[in-house]
Amino acid sequence: MNRRDFTKQACLMCLGAAILPAALSGCQSTHYTTGTLEQNGISVLKSEFTYLQKDQLQMRSYIIVRNDKLEFPIYVYRFSDTEYSAVLMKCAHQGAELSASGDHLHCPSHGSEFDNRGNMTQGPAEKNLRSFKVLANAEKLFINLS
Ligand code: FES
Repeated sequence: MNRRDFTKQACLMCLGAAILPAALSGCQSTHYTTGTLEQNGISVLKSEFTYLQKDQLQMRSYIIVRNDKLEFPIYVYRFSDTEYSAVLMKCAHQGAELSASGDHLHCPSHGSEFDNRGNMTQGPAEKNLRSFKVLANAEKLFINLS
């Protein structure tokens, strides 16, 4: 390796070391919770949406409720402290479990996509996802499954 190649490679490594942490800090891992089963629904603490980053309280845009009593997980999206959506992560095409990615849901089977309210944005699915009413109080959300 000559001096020019060495310098080029060293610069690329430094650039990667500088960019990678910044890129990763923008990625939030998906947060799962079991919630608490109640009559006609499931409740979730609003605090499930919070996390600490550099001693600052941050808000997640969504969480996933995964409970043994549910056939499919529920994607819960936070629009504001009082407005949330909750949709069943079961594809409206042939019933595969969806993947959540930020403000949309994607089907790994045939590529259907849905927005954060469960509206179909790309086929082959032709229907929206099943969604549930969400009631919010100061501390909790209640997802009405009835
Ligand atoms: S099962 Fe989801 S697109 Fe076919």
